[in-house]
Amino acid sequence: MVIRDKVDPDMPDIDMSAGTITIGDNLVVDRVGFGAMQLTGNQVWGEYPDRDGAVTLLRAAVDAGVTFIDTADVYGPHTNEILIRDALYPYPDNLVIATKGGFVRGGFDYSTLDSVGNPNYLRQCAHTSARRLNVDHIDLYYLHSGRATDAPFEDQVGALAGLREQGLIRNIGLSNVTVEQFRAARSIVEIAAVTAHYTVGVRTGADLLHAAAEAGAVFSPWHPITLTDGHNGGEVLAVIEPIAARHHATPHQIALAWQLQHSPATLPIPGTSSITHLKENLAAQAVPLTAEEVAAITALSTAD
Ligand SMILES: NC(=O)c1ccc[n+]([C@@H]2O[C@H](COP(=O)([O-])OP(=O)(O)OC[C@H]3O[C@@H](n4cnc5c(N)ncnc54)[C@H](OP(=O)(O)O)[C@@H]3O)[C@@H](O)[C@H]2O)c1
Repeated sequence: MVIRDKVDPDMPDIDMSAGTITIGDNLVVDRVGFGAMQLTGNQVWGEYPDRDGAVTLLRAAVDAGVTFIDTADVYGPHTNEILIRDALYPYPDNLVIATKGGFVRGGFDYSTLDSVGNPNYLRQCAHTSARRLNVDHIDLYYLHSGRATDAPFEDQVGALAGLREQGLIRNIGLSNVTVEQFRAARSIVEIAAVTAHYTVGVRTGADLLHAAAEAGAVFSPWHPITLTDGHNGGEVLAVIEPIAARHHATPHQIALAWQLQHSPATLPIPGTSSITHLKENLAAQAVPLTAEEVAAITALSTAD
């Protein structure tokens, strides 16, 4: 599929040849989504300082072919969902917005995250996210964390299952959970997607990726284009930079191309506050890595 950016007529056609991926039974989205978390204040707290710029960026993303946006009630909190609504409502029919509940900001300066699993709280989170996004149902709703200890994990999943039954949630996802939690949740209700930290250098979610792929669930790596978040940052660059030079691409594009070509189950959600980077990220779908290049990047971590 080739889509022309309606915002910038000089932009070259974007080759969306990485295709589509299906969430649950019938939500079809393009393989590269958009992570909206960057469009908040410093340290994901408060409003994004350049509101008009953020609105322009979100509209440019949709115009350029983005059909999946990842947000959460705790981004801001709330400001990110409201920004998405203000920029994009009424939403295009093919746009899927995923949001999450279960984290609250804590600490003396609100810089830390605590997990809350109280089923009443989770139900309230989902309803208030739907109100902020101005939707009568949420296409994909993630439990943001598997670490809450104030309620049994099964009860947290049960709360989301109940909301799905009522029609408020169309598909259920799990964020930052263990493989054991993923399996336990699947024995309660269908899990359409999981999301976890998974980068070229640090593959925290590796086991989850494989469990998701085996179960037919989507795996959405977060921090998907981050290059140097581990102790092996130098090694990552030493492998990726020559590959980027060979493809006349940037190292970030190579990281994204690897995410796409390493597993057909992935739905990366790169975040950016830059229209130039947005276009580069979408264009990464058309970078054809060789099998040797994919293998060289995969070998950067013992977890694949
Ligand atoms: N479930 C969870 O617990 C969880 C946790 C973290 C994140 N997330 C989700 O994952 C999404 C992505 O994560 P992230 O935004 O933290 O990390 P990321 O997408 O890996 O990286 C974003 C960073 O890379 C830069 N960047 C983006 N495109 C670039 C390009 N083409 N070239 C060079 N630099 C580029 C951005 O800066 P510029 O703004 O300058 O482009 C930004 O600093 C978030 O937006 C959020 O939706 C989920």
